[in-house]
Amino acid sequence: MLSVEENEILTRVRAGTPMGRMMRRFWLPICSSHQLPGPDCDPLRTKLLGEPFVVFRDSGGKVGVLDEFCVHRRASLALGRVEDGGIRCLLHGWKFTTDGTILETPNHCAENVKQKIKQPAYPVREAGGMVWTYIGPKEQEPPFPHYAFFDGPGENLVVLRINTAVNYLQLYEGGTDSSHVGILHMNMMNPGWKDQTFTSGDTKASGGVKVGESDGTLSSKTAMYVSADLFASAPDLSIEDTEYGYHYAALRDGPNAEDGSETWSVRITPVMLPIGRMIPAIAFGFYVFEAPMDDTETATYVVFHGKEALDRQAMIDTMGLADERFWNDRDCNFRAGWDDRLGQDRASFGHNWSGYTGIEQEDAVIALSMGPIVDRSKEYLVPADEGVIRLRRRLLDSVKRHEAGEDPIALAVTEYADIDAPADIIIPKGSDWQSLVPNNMGLGRPTKAAAE
Ligand code: FES
Ligand SMILES: [Fe+2]
Repeated sequence: MLSVEENEILTRVRAGTPMGRMMRRFWLPICSSHQLPGPDCDPLRTKLLGEPFVVFRDSGGKVGVLDEFCVHRRASLALGRVEDGGIRCLLHGWKFTTDGTILETPNHCAENVKQKIKQPAYPVREAGGMVWTYIGPKEQEPPFPHYAFFDGPGENLVVLRINTAVNYLQLYEGGTDSSHVGILHMNMMNPGWKDQTFTSGDTKASGGVKVGESDGTLSSKTAMYVSADLFASAPDLSIEDTEYGYHYAALRDGPNAEDGSETWSVRITPVMLPIGRMIPAIAFGFYVFEAPMDDTETATYVVFHGKEALDRQAMIDTMGLADERFWNDRDCNFRAGWDDRLGQDRASFGHNWSGYTGIEQEDAVIALSMGPIVDRSKEYLVPADEGVIRLRRRLLDSVKRHEAGEDPIALAVTEYADIDAPADIIIPKGSDWQSLVPNNMGLGRPTKAAAE
């Protein structure tokens, strides 16, 4: 449980707020490359940390991030014409390059304006299928970080953007909450659930429900995420702070070793402040970034990075985003409202646990169901929420440090390529899981969080 004041600090991201100031110290994604498919394509109107921007790709393929409203008389440049090396405002035809330089002012023949002013423009890097920008103080621009998914052929990479009308922290917390995976995502993670006995009160960590052993009939989609029926119960969590935030191991009982000794099956989730995380997955590198568009709007970027070419539509299907009632790959907005109970199909409950189809659909509607900003002073937390609790604590610590004049957590880390998120590795029970991830920048002293 948090105080009302802590909840405000964590969730408010506009300019002039403590979290808004902290997040502005980082390079952040503003759109996917897929949203700007080619030179002189349609410009994109979007927001980051409560500020409106237009993002466009010029005739040479270079991307610009400009303030949305024209410096002349404030028409939206999102209606502008993108042509001949710049974006032209529709109202009086002023034309701007990607760095905001004014090329033409058709309604004003003197040269002085071009020399004197610029459209506000921000540093841009395009990498890993995303456009990244820095909107913080000019003199504090940090080095651009490097992730493993920036490297390798483009066909091995798929980035999906999902805009959801909730505060970023609800989505971020969902990604650090292991104990919901086997329950909310039952259709995928434990497809045999309907043939099993559903009992309550006998799990170690969740204090909630436990489903019997899976029948092992994992679908091929599920097999991309897990190798066995690991999600039938809540895990024990072991958490360690790292240079960039923290990572945690979800520890579940594994099969007995040949000598009969007990094992753990381990999945490790690195959480890279202020908005990133990796998800342990078998078939590909799997990253998620929750970029706040505003206090109650979030752009989620889901990154799949395979060793071989990946099929975009297959990734959309896997995430449960193929249903155009909820989402499409053009505007990327997640649509669901209470008029039809957030699109839930309760008639399917006999064979469909949630009444939704797919992980992202389930995660997004649950986050929406909490309202735009959760009142965290009214929660009742249990040990299984320790991953979520650590996220809040590290974010609050980072804000506190920054407000005291220090650098925020993770700002000094620029090389993320060696950070690992192993999935379903078997180790002797009680052994040291950190040795599986020597490059994860652990700071020592992991704490075991789950109740026995
Ligand atoms: S408002 Fe944009 S050119 Fe006048
Ligand atoms: Fe989830």
